[in-house]
Amino acid sequence: MNLILLGPPGAGKGTQAQLLKDRRGLVQLSTGDMLRAAVASGSELGKTVKSIMASGGLVPDETMINLIADRIAQPDCAKGFILDGFPRTTRQAEALDAMLAAKGLKLDGVIELKVDDAALVERISGRYSCAKCGAGYHDSYKKPKKAGICDSCGAEQFTRREDDKAEVVASRLEAYHRQTAPLLPYYKARGVLRTVDGMAGIDEVQGQIEKVLAGA
Ligand code: AP5
Repeated sequence: MNLILLGPPGAGKGTQAQLLKDRRGLVQLSTGDMLRAAVASGSELGKTVKSIMASGGLVPDETMINLIADRIAQPDCAKGFILDGFPRTTRQAEALDAMLAAKGLKLDGVIELKVDDAALVERISGRYSCAKCGAGYHDSYKKPKKAGICDSCGAEQFTRREDDKAEVVASRLEAYHRQTAPLLPYYKARGVLRTVDGMAGIDEVQGQIEKVLAGA
């Protein structure tokens, strides 16, 4: 099964992709995580994208298309994947169509997580993650079971993303509405778009996604 999770920054794409990965054994392809790993490693790609990400803008299409094409070609993706953060422009969506067609693969669904802008800002400003294993948390909605200790690996150090500062969040939202939201009619026209209420709690959103997939 090959899926896209589509939605604005903070909509819960990463949260739901992780849950889907655990439940269905799919590979999670988060372009944001790939780019952050490149920045952390100091690679050429990381040096190129660092300032773009810090400003809340989008990395050039050709860079992202090459990154995903290489990743989808890896053997583990044969069991199915969840795209989290890609495509983000019509150019990326068209390139993905061509990539899948060349491999004889199809898109089983595009799930839109619909969330109001005001809620997004609150979600993003409360988000943090484990500095060791990357497990995600939120000040209000997803606290570690034992305060200050990561549920997944037991580490005690946590970190917040550079681009989660209020002024950058505004630019990320603007980029979403201008460049990524046009993908909603793009996929609707192809009959693969399903919308879930991303304002609901994490478990409820998960349930809605399972319902959608049961009918896919
Ligand atoms: P990326 O990492 O993809 O960031 P994003 O799309 O802005 O999405 P986020 O990771 O911020 O949010 P999310 O939807 O995953 O929400 P989450 O599950 O964390 O991209 C970062 C940057 O990389 C971009 O700005 C761009 O520069 C570049 N980039 C990446 N891909 C690119 C591409 N294809 N083309 C060009 N540039 C690209 O949830 C948020 C918080 O809310 C968490 O704390 C979570 O616990 C909480 N939460 C989740 N669900 C719920 C719920 N239902 N109720 C309450 N709280 C919830």
